[in-house]
Amino acid sequence: MLKKVAILANGGDVSGFNAVIRAIVKTAESNNIECYGFIDGYRGLLKNDYIKLSSTDKASGILQKGGSIISSSTNANVFHYKVVDENGNVEYKDLSDKCVQNVKEDGFDCIFTLGGDSTQKSARDFSLKGLNVIGVPKTIDNDVACTDITFGYNTAVTVATEALDRLHTTAETHNRIMVLEVMGREAGWIALESAIAGGADIALIPEIPYDINKAAEAIKRRQENGKNFSVVVVSEGAYPKGGEMAIAGKKDDGEGVINVKLGGAGERVAEELERLTGLTARCTVLGYMQRGGTPTAYDRVLSTKYGSKAMELALEGKFNVLTVIKNGKLDCVPLEDVVGNNKEIGALQDGTLGNVKIVTMEDDLVKTARNIGINLGD
Ligand code: F6P
Repeated sequence: MLKKVAILANGGDVSGFNAVIRAIVKTAESNNIECYGFIDGYRGLLKNDYIKLSSTDKASGILQKGGSIISSSTNANVFHYKVVDENGNVEYKDLSDKCVQNVKEDGFDCIFTLGGDSTQKSARDFSLKGLNVIGVPKTIDNDVACTDITFGYNTAVTVATEALDRLHTTAETHNRIMVLEVMGREAGWIALESAIAGGADIALIPEIPYDINKAAEAIKRRQENGKNFSVVVVSEGAYPKGGEMAIAGKKDDGEGVINVKLGGAGERVAEELERLTGLTARCTVLGYMQRGGTPTAYDRVLSTKYGSKAMELALEGKFNVLTVIKNGKLDCVPLEDVVGNNKEIGALQDGTLGNVKIVTMEDDLVKTARNIGINLGD
């Protein structure tokens, strides 16, 4: 019999966090289960910092709100946690046992982990330590294995598409190349899908290292056909053949968190296209606009489905799984399949295998883009 469950939100914010929280809380209440929220992701688990969530109080009126009412942490891997002493000495410690102790002592029957691949890896590791966990796949990057879609992704694509519509105006009016840099880390999903939705002429993604000359040729062909402007989407992780991803900064918050800040890919492409085509090029970096604010209707529904399914699974006693959408159907898969040796993980730029689901050349989006003449830099 479940009595008490808790939610934690981890990683970069996305639109839809609160919609998932609301759905878990409401489904829990329908079954007379108390629901709590750990503050600041796994950091809350470590500090034993949590609040009561109820649909008449904290979790009320949050469906359309961006961010997370229980915050979220982007750099807290409690299995390799950065600890700085008073002299500034840095040590990385495994503090996961403290988290397990907190959860057990306070009697939580299940922890719902809302997050991307790193979050779900920690969730899997906690399940190996005896906690009941259920993951919900979150990220604007859409790069979590074993699911067709993560919550937050649709909103990011929608924002990027609207940006492309607006950039088209300036491109056409001033005969310019307008470059839009979008997020996505090692995965080109946002770039590819928004390029199709926004009618872009070129899309550069990390999965296809680009030849800038091919992109420039595509722009020149458009000029020959009387189109003196072009719109280009560049994924933040896109890089030239034989080159490197553009890095804006690095930090060291331990293993299992993002220590590399990508940035500059769009500007690099804009400068080179200007040089090669003679057209004026401008770059816009969409940045955190993709993650903040109100979720689309699609994301509200997806998040609600994910949240209610997660609570249903807990009621069935089906733990250590991730809620997924597979071939359009709401389902779940073992966390081990998501962050372990599954088939969907892809090779990253350095040749290592990552946990992330990247775009494959067989994907419908790639075929569609090519069919309608979007140049992919190859
Ligand atoms: O993974 C989500 C994401 O938004 C990426 O697309 C982006 O590279 C990264 O997070 C940015 O992270 P931060 O919030 O640390 O700047």
